[in-house]
Amino acid sequence: MKNFITLNDLPSFDAALVLAKSLKKDPYAFEEHAKRKTLGLIFFNPSLRTRLSTQKAAQNLGFNTLVMNFSNEAWALEFEDGTEMRGIRSEHIREAAAVVSQYCDVVAIRAFASLTNKEQDEAEIVLNSFAKYASIPVINMESATGHPLQALADAVTLSEHPTPHKPKIVLTWAPHPKALPHAVGNSFVKMMEHQDSDFVIANPEGYDLDPRITKNIPISHNQEKALKNADFVYSKNWCSYTNYGSILRTDDKWMLTSEKMNLTKNAKFMHCLPVRRNIVVSDGVLDNPNSLVIEQANNRTFAAQAVLKIILDHV
Ligand code: CP
Repeated sequence: MKNFITLNDLPSFDAALVLAKSLKKDPYAFEEHAKRKTLGLIFFNPSLRTRLSTQKAAQNLGFNTLVMNFSNEAWALEFEDGTEMRGIRSEHIREAAAVVSQYCDVVAIRAFASLTNKEQDEAEIVLNSFAKYASIPVINMESATGHPLQALADAVTLSEHPTPHKPKIVLTWAPHPKALPHAVGNSFVKMMEHQDSDFVIANPEGYDLDPRITKNIPISHNQEKALKNADFVYSKNWCSYTNYGSILRTDDKWMLTSEKMNLTKNAKFMHCLPVRRNIVVSDGVLDNPNSLVIEQANNRTFAAQAVLKIILDHV
């Protein structure tokens, strides 16, 4: 695996899951693996979990880490070729990626969607340009269209809560005052291809995810019907995909509440965090012992550690 841009880049999803779980049991099993190697972490957007868990994962493998906030600490990057760089963009990605490659052995990048231009977001210009011009492996720490490290961690969390029957898993849209990207939802849906489950996506009309990703997964526009007998409920906001970047509704009808969780089969609650309390989900759901959100955050370390180890083993 040269780069980890999407879950499809993994040589074997199942092997990565097994590795992440074994690293959770013994985080220092490969503590010398990346001795004298450096992981660069480049952020164009804020982060708590991804920044800390990926650094911790790297350190567990023996990496040194360099962290840089590119949104306000680096020169503004130009991604187009052949332009006269007269504006505010002072450095071209060709040089920037090549220079980062001099200091690092692997680089991990976070670059969210603009949500203003669907074609540009789907082209994944930042991630793909780094992958093109860097001479080192590139890891996706959430891009415009995907968050595969979160999805692998979520697979670890699901595997830690087996059910006596094939589980029903519901990914339900939630309200949010800001337009949020589709990355977490997209990667969760892709990860679910590897689960033996009854999987349903619930979202209001106008909020269907990219049909090229959801394919033939059932989509319900009736949240309460979808939640019936669920074993796991994953709540997440995303903005409209068809009316790209728009917020079509702000009412709290789709907020996940304890009353709605009573429709489920005592379901576990999941969310990638950060989460807005009593907007996305009520206090009662988040503070219930069935909430797995902190376990999900913990598993981010071991998902990242597995990806880093797989990358090192294939360089
Ligand atoms: N879930 C997640 O990626 O969290 P951060 O945005 O805090 O990294």
